[in-house]
Amino acid sequence: MGSCGLAAGAREVMEQVKEEITSRGLNIQVQPTGCIGMCHHEPLLDVVTDDGVYTYGHVTPEVVKAIFDEHIVGKKPLEKYLVNSPEHQNEFLAGQVRIALRDCGIINLWQIADYEEHGGYQGLRKAITTMTPEEVINEIKEAGLRGRGGGGFPTWFKWQAARQNEGAQKYVVCNADEGDPGAFMDRSILEGDPHTVIEGMIICAYAIGATAGFIYVRDEYDLAVKNLTNAIMEARRHGYLGKNILGSELSFDIEIVRGGGAFVCGEETALINSIQGNVGEPWDKYVFPTEKGLWGQPTVINNVETWANVPVIIREGAAKFASIGTEGSKGTKVFSLVGKVVKAGLVEVPMGTTLREIIFDIGGGIQNGRKFKAVQTGGPSGGCIPESLLDLPVDFDTLTQAGSMMGSGGMIVMDDRTCMVEVARYYVNFLAGESCGKCVPCREGISLLLETLTRICEGKGKLEDLDLLESMSSTIQKAALCALGRTAPNPVLSTLKYFRDEYLEHINNHRCPAGICKELTEFYIDEELCTGCGRCRRNCPADAITGEKKKAHTIDPEKCIKCGECIDNCRFQAVKVK
Ligand SMILES: Cc1cc2nc3c(=O)[nH]c(=O)nc-3n(C[C@H](O)[C@H](O)[C@H](O)COP(=O)(O)O)c2cc1C
Ligand code: SF4
Ligand code: SF4
Ligand code: FES
Repeated sequence: MGSCGLAAGAREVMEQVKEEITSRGLNIQVQPTGCIGMCHHEPLLDVVTDDGVYTYGHVTPEVVKAIFDEHIVGKKPLEKYLVNSPEHQNEFLAGQVRIALRDCGIINLWQIADYEEHGGYQGLRKAITTMTPEEVINEIKEAGLRGRGGGGFPTWFKWQAARQNEGAQKYVVCNADEGDPGAFMDRSILEGDPHTVIEGMIICAYAIGATAGFIYVRDEYDLAVKNLTNAIMEARRHGYLGKNILGSELSFDIEIVRGGGAFVCGEETALINSIQGNVGEPWDKYVFPTEKGLWGQPTVINNVETWANVPVIIREGAAKFASIGTEGSKGTKVFSLVGKVVKAGLVEVPMGTTLREIIFDIGGGIQNGRKFKAVQTGGPSGGCIPESLLDLPVDFDTLTQAGSMMGSGGMIVMDDRTCMVEVARYYVNFLAGESCGKCVPCREGISLLLETLTRICEGKGKLEDLDLLESMSSTIQKAALCALGRTAPNPVLSTLKYFRDEYLEHINNHRCPAGICKELTEFYIDEELCTGCGRCRRNCPADAITGEKKKAHTIDPEKCIKCGECIDNCRFQAVKVK
């Protein structure tokens, strides 16, 4: 059971299932699984039968009773709550190709045996018993695996460098800091399939000759730490970790380190400092961690999703993996699809899938029939992509060319009620708080961007401010020490590039077209469109709307606090921004 499932009530559902089994005297096994990524249907319950798997969504203890009556006892699926079945595959899942998420929501996360039954640890066994370390590295090279943590750096290259560099001891690190707002891909893998990360790390340890590993987990991820701790202990008991792994010369073990709580600690050199007990500040990368990493020794750092791909590549061969994806970006990518999309959740698709396919075919389009405006990819370091680029095939290179980046896989969908200047301000504000302060361009430059954007959102902006934003962005990109600073201007530059008219509306006409910036917004009701349903009046927290039933309503601007409830609730698009 993953964090979101638990938050939605999965524990109560599980208790009710056990209660039904006991009270009805049934012989049925109950298994907790991680998350399959259909956040929009949680809590989920699978009924596994000889005919296949029937998945129920929005399950409550009451629904559990009904499922037992109708499906378990009555042998007829309960259609009302069915979200996936052998007869009708759910579109959200049907559009996906799952490699990193292959076991999430399927295997019992507490039992190593279940992981093994699904092919787990076969990649490791194959590597250790049939391949040389060089062959393992070559297989990762042939697969074309690029790091999923943001930069898309070729994984084999790091492994090879760490193998070739001399060191008294070598280290393998899993970066599970996952600090991007809206991202939860790594958390889901750690919670639902921790062994895949462990197996990937052991394969790398064999390839580079490492003896110790660390998993650096975001401090807030309690459940991930719990499940990982259990998985590490199980792996030790089964001879996958510890001395002479699978009877070989390889000795390797893994320790969990809880993150320092700062976004910058996800940057690999800051992460190294943090593991060593120092302040989580990046260092300048004249020397790479593969040469001098943890305690000055050769160290490979990869992201959770990168690790999750490794066992499959070794087990099934590089060619199969490389047959998926685009020329420069092989395999799949996991995205956390959130924001104003109908079906939020975790989506794994081949590289090269278009944004339109992800957001509309898999994600079901925009909530409440509103209009798509932009999608933000790459977290705070990424950018906002407009409607005109919806047919862009998503991979590392196309997103960078579009002024955004893949990042670790956050994908935030925005509708026409989103102010793009405010979005830029939001991300810059986040980064201003997260800059470690070590270098001046980042510390002072981001603050200046924030001041300027705030001025524009408050209606005090001038045309010269746009030049200031661009020149300051360029300075930060060139002069900041680490990628936090160097990529910080992306949200500003991408919104300036694609949504410049919104900046100009704020500055020249003192108007926020989306109705978000309070100082620049006034709402009114279009008499022609208003049906007098009263929905806006009932939802207005300030009692600012008057009107009789079936007659046009009006807003009192003196009372209005510009919360936007009326515009969001009107089903006839009668509430407008002046
Ligand atoms: C500010 C900042 C935060 C980062 N946060 C993460 C993170 O949370 N997880 C991650 O895997 N990589 C993060 N990275 C990228 C890492 O520095 C590093 O490139 C990555 O862990 C390498 O793994 P990969 O090659 O498998 O992608 C971050 C980079 C920066 C600049
Ligand atoms: S919700 Fe829309 S249609 Fe209904 S009264 Fe308000 S403005 Fe008019
Ligand atoms: S914006 Fe909020 S306060 Fe103003 S009229 Fe609409 S619902 Fe009422
Ligand atoms: S339901 Fe688990 S990630 Fe959303």
